[in-house]
Amino acid sequence: MAKRDFLSLADLSRDEFEMLVKRAIEGKKEWKEGRAKTPMKGKVLGLIFHKPSLRTRVSFEVGARQLGGSAIYLTDKELGIGSREAVEDVGEVLSRYLDVIMIRTFDHKIAVDLAANAKAPVINGLTDLFHPCQVLADVQTIVEHRDTIEGKVVTFYGDGSNNMAHSWINAAAVLPFELRIATPSNYLPDAAVMSHAKKCGAKIVVSHDAKEVSRGADVLYTDVWASMGQESERDARIREMMPYQINAEALALAKKDALVLHCLPAHRGEEVTADVIDGPHSVIYDEAENRLHAQKAIIEWLLA
Ligand code: CP
Ligand code: NVA
Repeated sequence: MAKRDFLSLADLSRDEFEMLVKRAIEGKKEWKEGRAKTPMKGKVLGLIFHKPSLRTRVSFEVGARQLGGSAIYLTDKELGIGSREAVEDVGEVLSRYLDVIMIRTFDHKIAVDLAANAKAPVINGLTDLFHPCQVLADVQTIVEHRDTIEGKVVTFYGDGSNNMAHSWINAAAVLPFELRIATPSNYLPDAAVMSHAKKCGAKIVVSHDAKEVSRGADVLYTDVWASMGQESERDARIREMMPYQINAEALALAKKDALVLHCLPAHRGEEVTADVIDGPHSVIYDEAENRLHAQKAIIEWLLA
């Protein structure tokens, strides 16, 4: 059987997506009850980082250990993908040592090329285009708190053109929920990502009116306004995106029991106010914890 990679949620069928969420929830229980299995025994995960990370790095390293395997951390200082060494050779050689490879990088094409040239499965740990591991953990969190995502209204506020918005669009192409994106007109989602989702029958609304988007929402989601690599645009982005802040007013328009999610890191007072992110609707730390269990489900699936 051909090896699988985990580069984009758009590559998953609905059955696969739901199976991964279910497995993440079960695996979390198994771990907490001391009856977890070790399907990664003797296997090694390589973690390539071209950008900083707290959650992704630590949860993958700990996840590999919890599954009975181990992980090694690699930066581009050592690898020099495309500069010191061609991506073809990096993929081939790493596959002789490693059983699974995760990469966090800028250009999504680097992750795609690495996967195309690696015999080991490749996991996208965030590119400028997508962050699929995060949205898998996000959906897990929503299912844990609300039983299902089916029929729910998920709203995304802020930068509609970033990796988180795009992975939510991909999720809406696979799972039956409504996605509403509130973003300024110059931060629209990638046209190809949107058109793929529309072709799959996704229910997605893109609006410049944050209030309209908030009405009746089940989940309010946001992310930093300046992603890694966009730090020099931060001031301009804060000015443009302030109307898209998740605050008490946005929350008041949503359902009474709405959940607030954020992939983290967060900037309190920018994309979300401190009272909201630290308040009773917020499930951000459950969400961060779930990165560990969602990723174990991905590794287990890719190694099966
Ligand atoms: N949410 C997330 O991916 O966090 P890190 O950038 O810290 O890995
Ligand atoms: N959009 C953010 C996500 C961080 C997890 C970034 O790319 O920096």
